[in-house]
Amino acid sequence: MATSVSISILVLALWVLCTFTHSTTMVVAAKSSALELEAKALLESGWWSSKYTNGSSSSHCAWPGIYCNDGGSVIEIYMYEVYLGDKFRKFNFSSFPNLEDLNLYNTGLQGSIPPEIGTLSKLTYLSLSMNNLTGNLPLSLTNLTQLEYLLIDNNLISGSIPNILGNLKNLQILDLSANAFSGSIPHQLGNLKNLRYLDISRNKLTGELPPSLANLTQLDTFDISSNLIRGSIPKELGNLKNLYLLNLSNNTLTGPIPSTLSLLTGLLYLNLSSNEISGSIASEIRFLKNLEHLDLQQNKLTGPLPSFLWHLTNLNYLSLNSNQINGSIPAEIGNMKNLGTLSLAWNQISGSIPVEIANCPSLYNLTLSHNYLTGTISFDMRYFYLLQYLDLSYNNLCGSIPRTINHLTNLETLSLDRNQISGSIPMEITDCTSLKHLSLSHNFLTGNIPSLVGHLHSLNAIDLSHNNISGDIPFELRYLPSLELLDFSYNNLTGYIPIFSNHIKEINLSYNSLQGQIPDGYFNWTPYTFIGNKDLCGDIPGFPPCSPTASNSFSKKNSSPNNNKSIVHQIKIVVPLSFFLVFLLLGCIFLSRRGDKKTKSESSEPKNGDLFSIWNYDGKIAYEDIVEATKDFDISYCIGTGGYGSVYKAQLPSGKTVAVKKLHRLEAENPTFDKSFKNEVKMLVAIRHRNIVKLLGYCLHNRCMFLIYEYMERGSLFSVLSNDVEAMEFDWMKRMNVIKSIAHALCYMHHECVSAIVHRDITSNNILLNSKLEGFVSDFGMAKFLDPDSSNQTLVAGTYGYLAPELAYTMVVTEKCDVYSFGVVTLEILMGRHPGELMTSLSTSQSVMLNEILDQRLPPPNRLVAKDVFLVAAISFACLHTKPKSRPTMKWVSQEFLSHKKPVTNPLHSVSLWQLRNQENYTIGESETQ
Ligand SMILES: *[C@@H]1O[C@H](CO)[C@@H](O)[C@H](O)[C@H]1NC(C)=O
Ligand SMILES: *[C@@H]1O[C@H](CO)[C@@H](O)[C@H](O)[C@H]1NC(C)=O
Ligand SMILES: *[C@@H]1O[C@H](CO)[C@@H](O)[C@H](O)[C@H]1NC(C)=O
Ligand SMILES: *[C@@H]1O[C@H](CO)[C@@H](O)[C@H](O)[C@H]1NC(C)=O
Ligand SMILES: *[C@@H]1O[C@H](CO)[C@@H](O)[C@H](O)[C@H]1NC(C)=O
Ligand SMILES: *[C@@H]1O[C@H](CO)[C@@H](O)[C@H](O)[C@H]1NC(C)=O
Repeated sequence: MATSVSISILVLALWVLCTFTHSTTMVVAAKSSALELEAKALLESGWWSSKYTNGSSSSHCAWPGIYCNDGGSVIEIYMYEVYLGDKFRKFNFSSFPNLEDLNLYNTGLQGSIPPEIGTLSKLTYLSLSMNNLTGNLPLSLTNLTQLEYLLIDNNLISGSIPNILGNLKNLQILDLSANAFSGSIPHQLGNLKNLRYLDISRNKLTGELPPSLANLTQLDTFDISSNLIRGSIPKELGNLKNLYLLNLSNNTLTGPIPSTLSLLTGLLYLNLSSNEISGSIASEIRFLKNLEHLDLQQNKLTGPLPSFLWHLTNLNYLSLNSNQINGSIPAEIGNMKNLGTLSLAWNQISGSIPVEIANCPSLYNLTLSHNYLTGTISFDMRYFYLLQYLDLSYNNLCGSIPRTINHLTNLETLSLDRNQISGSIPMEITDCTSLKHLSLSHNFLTGNIPSLVGHLHSLNAIDLSHNNISGDIPFELRYLPSLELLDFSYNNLTGYIPIFSNHIKEINLSYNSLQGQIPDGYFNWTPYTFIGNKDLCGDIPGFPPCSPTASNSFSKKNSSPNNNKSIVHQIKIVVPLSFFLVFLLLGCIFLSRRGDKKTKSESSEPKNGDLFSIWNYDGKIAYEDIVEATKDFDISYCIGTGGYGSVYKAQLPSGKTVAVKKLHRLEAENPTFDKSFKNEVKMLVAIRHRNIVKLLGYCLHNRCMFLIYEYMERGSLFSVLSNDVEAMEFDWMKRMNVIKSIAHALCYMHHECVSAIVHRDITSNNILLNSKLEGFVSDFGMAKFLDPDSSNQTLVAGTYGYLAPELAYTMVVTEKCDVYSFGVVTLEILMGRHPGELMTSLSTSQSVMLNEILDQRLPPPNRLVAKDVFLVAAISFACLHTKPKSRPTMKWVSQEFLSHKKPVTNPLHSVSLWQLRNQENYTIGESETQ
């Protein structure tokens, strides 16, 4: 039996080999000399180990990283992240007259770029990025007139940018960033009419911006940041109508912002920060309606804070820090629904902070320090659940700290120092459980330090100095595990000094009314730590020794306070006791709060959720039902946390189980939640497909943000693949079906909806499996309609490890980005894990056969499924092509899966990944069917 199988395999293999060599022989006969030269040069380069070459160059077209044309001549050499080092020098460039693509990204190259590179006259793609190349750019580059992509970023190339680059008329992408180029920007670059992407940032370029660059009308990305460019911003830049990223930051540009920038209506990202730009903020900026990121910080801008800024409602980032801007913040700030960062610090802004700021639900970084703001902090903090950073320091704010501060559960930094804030520190501040830095110094605060501050476990620095705070220092502070800096100086604190933990690096309790013994032996202090407290005693200079009858908090009834052993003994008793009391107290507070919440929610939120502006399809799921079914989103019902929220399992009174995705406070890293949630609803309302997870209802309101889906019993593809038991149950047949389902769903989205929809975040986490292990596409938080009328450009990206490589140099979203991610997920299903390592090791490891990469936890696929596995593998490699154009469409993939003409099975161990990868158009099997 075994012999007959192996004989038939042998026969098949021989037959394949014969057909192959036969066709090759015919070609070789025609153009032998040129091809022999190529083969010889490849062998002598030493880039391929003898594992592939066997000392012979006859099959070089099948070596890793080499692609040949039909005539057998090399057209692409792809050595991405393969270490070549000095072997670079052995490469005979002149032997490859047909080479179109040469990719040597991160291959350890050193020394200068060999001028012989100029002999590759058909080159369209050249990447030498991420190496240690030195010297100047060789003038022979001028020979490469076909070049479309020239990527030399992240090297150590010096000298000037040669004028002759201006001759490369076909260039579309030019990236010379992060080198040591000096001299000025040659005006000849203005001849590159096809250029879409120009990045010369992070060099030492000097001189002015040549106005000729205005001829680059195709340009969508223009980055000259971090150079030494001076002069004014040429008004001609207004010609670059296709720009969506303009970064001129960190130079020495002067003069005003030219009004012509208003013509760049497609701009998403505008960064002019760290220059010497003067004048007022040109009112023309109001025409840049698509702007998401506006950074003008560290300039010399003057004049009032313009009101038109608040109509740029797509803005997510706005920084005008460190200018000389005056005027006040108007109520229109409430329009800024997408604003995540607002930084106006170090200006001359006056007036009060408008209450309307509470209408900016995405804010997570609000910095208004170093201005002349007055009035009270009267805005309602209830809506700022994303806020992480709030700095209002160095203003003239008065009034007290609002009690609604307890809603800022994500707040990490609170800086209110140097104002005129009065009243006491509200107890509610202890609900801000993420607080790391609390700084309230130089105000008129009175009252006690709330003892529950000792339960802010993330607290790293607390500064309450220069106030009029009285009462004891809460001893709970000693339990804070991360506390390193504590400054309570210049207050009116009384009582004893508690023992602090050893982590504290800096402590200042000077100028208070503390008394008793200075606890000794466990942290480094200076006399200044305690100076100005009349009634302290202890063994440090400047203080009287404690008399035997002196007492402190831990030795009140102790007859010999200087006896360390008995202090320890006391601690043993007192500490557990105080723990107990604290827990008791906490318990009471907790219970009373819960009571509060319950009555509040019952009184203010009517059943059936009238509160919510948008509601579900069938109206049968009420808000209360969801709250009840998840015990108010108790953690025990949480079945996963994704990029945009936590997912809970809820069994409704009807018996139906649903999944509830809730915008969770802890996932507030990303300020675009709100947007993403609404986006998901918009998308899912528009699409219905059996392999796309169904949206059953939703609720979008500041108070409750959740989406309700069909419940998927088996969770994400990722979790099933990571669990050995579940992965075994997920057999080859089921895996093939999941792959096909995803393909059909994507085909539907790309080709069958009114406007094409790209998902943009296809990952194994976003494919869900039901009880029968059938696959469903989910998580449309980043999906986008490809609208013929609106821009397909965007700044937001997907998940690392699944992102199409072109997204590194383009922001234009196409369906082909999904196709790439689909390729990754498909390989992941075949392999049982993310193919990351495989993709980078392919070129170096020995020729890997298809069967070797398959998930080894499963038995090898049987003959029937093997056909599918083979087809799926071939398609996944095609989808992973670096050039978007060379990837198939999902329509093609979907039809390929539907068509019944299955390829004749090659035994999986006879197909190497390189054969699969080098297939053009993956017409696998067709040759065998004849
Ligand atoms: C430029 O190309 C021509 C032919 O295409 C070749 O003869 C010449 O050597 C090349 N020059 C450089 C500097 O490589
Ligand atoms: C460049 O050279 C330095 C020092 O030899 C080395 O540490 C670094 O990894 C090299 N960088 C690249 C991208 O090869
Ligand atoms: C600004 O440019 C200088 C060099 O010109 C660089 O060292 C510095 O890191 C840059 N700063 C920023 C914020 O990019
Ligand atoms: C400090 O507090 C005490 C009461 O605890 C009060 O008598 C005294 O006036 C306060 N000192 C200052 C400077 O406010
Ligand atoms: C956006 O993409 C779609 C589909 O690829 C295309 O039809 C449309 O023309 C594009 N829109 C723009 C403005 O480029
Ligand atoms: C691949 O397919 C395209 C269009 O389907 C065709 O034009 C091209 O010639 C094919 N290439 C090969 C090598 O079969």
